Amino acid sequence: MSHKSIIPQPGILNIAPYVAGKSHAAGGNRVTKLSANENPHGPSLLAKAAYIEAAGSLEAYPNSSHTDLRAAIAMVYGLEAGRIICGAGSDEIISFLCNTYAGPGNEVLYSQYGFAMYPISAMAAGATPVQASEADLHTDVDALLAACNARTRLVFIANPNNPTGSMISEAEIARLAAGIPEQALLVLDGAYAEFVEGFNGHAALVEARDNVVMTRTFSKIFGLGGARIGWGYGPAHVIDALNRVRGPFNVSAAALAAAEAAVQDVAYTEKCRVANAQWREWLRDELASIGLPSAESFTNFIMPRFESPEAAAEADAYLQTKGLVVRALDGYGLHAHLRITIGDEIACRAVAVALTEFMKGARA
Ligand SMILES: Cc1ncc(COP(=O)(O)O)c(C=O)c1O
Repeated sequence: MSHKSIIPQPGILNIAPYVAGKSHAAGGNRVTKLSANENPHGPSLLAKAAYIEAAGSLEAYPNSSHTDLRAAIAMVYGLEAGRIICGAGSDEIISFLCNTYAGPGNEVLYSQYGFAMYPISAMAAGATPVQASEADLHTDVDALLAACNARTRLVFIANPNNPTGSMISEAEIARLAAGIPEQALLVLDGAYAEFVEGFNGHAALVEARDNVVMTRTFSKIFGLGGARIGWGYGPAHVIDALNRVRGPFNVSAAALAAAEAAVQDVAYTEKCRVANAQWREWLRDELASIGLPSAESFTNFIMPRFESPEAAAEADAYLQTKGLVVRALDGYGLHAHLRITIGDEIACRAVAVALTEFMKGARA
């Protein structure tokens, strides 16, 4: 039998599959994974305990309305529980948004160095992804506004952004929200919002407007990447539409329980934010002092620049010989940069030592 007549929807086979951060080093060394912006300290112990406890009732379907988690998020962030939707990672919320608002003939706009899942989800929905260029590795609101047209349905911005680590001002975000066409929805991806002291991911803008949605995750500062849980916050009309696309049991009971405990352990989240900021600035200064500058980062990673794409590739290979796995950025067209997640103190010191050796001439 041939499967030649069984064909995916138009455009599906044009999708370049997402390349996840590596978790192995060449040569099979013991690995410190600094390629996926995970929390080196792991989740709150309360979250782990809740996850383990959930194993006691694996036969039961999860609460399909995510009531307790939405209430906990609403309490901690000062939001309305009825306008929150939970997903299997914020990736799933991104996918819901594309499936709900974009299809063939529509455009999904995002910034040049925007997160790779935006074009993937747009294409999966049959829509056309459109990139607006960035200025100096920052989201450029004028370029985004210039790229809008009657086909634009969604505009995705991560603030702070991955992989650049940069952030634009609340005023610029508000200008974008006010300037996009009336049929378009602005999605503010706040995957890294908790790393910025006192920043609520533009929640006030979401509440003030009916064309802005925010996506958030438990995968980064909360250390629950493996549990796959994230959420979105938006106007009631958007949350209502997304809930029609969402499967009733899209999030596991264990993930719901872990996230609920994690979000309430505010002291632990703050401890992680402070440690990240301390070691991020330390590593950034160390690397700058050996000729590897990186722009200010508002996240849990930095993006040092090498003198050439070849130097970045050689440094990547050298780090791997030391068991340090970082992220090459060829997929983003940032060939002379590497993205390095801020690990714990031992990992940061190991990266600084290895790159110092590399800059002095050591090679893989
Ligand atoms: C900017 C941004 N948005 C969304 C995500 C998706 O995270 P998750 O699906 O784990 O919530 C990531 C993960 O790396 C990210 O960097």
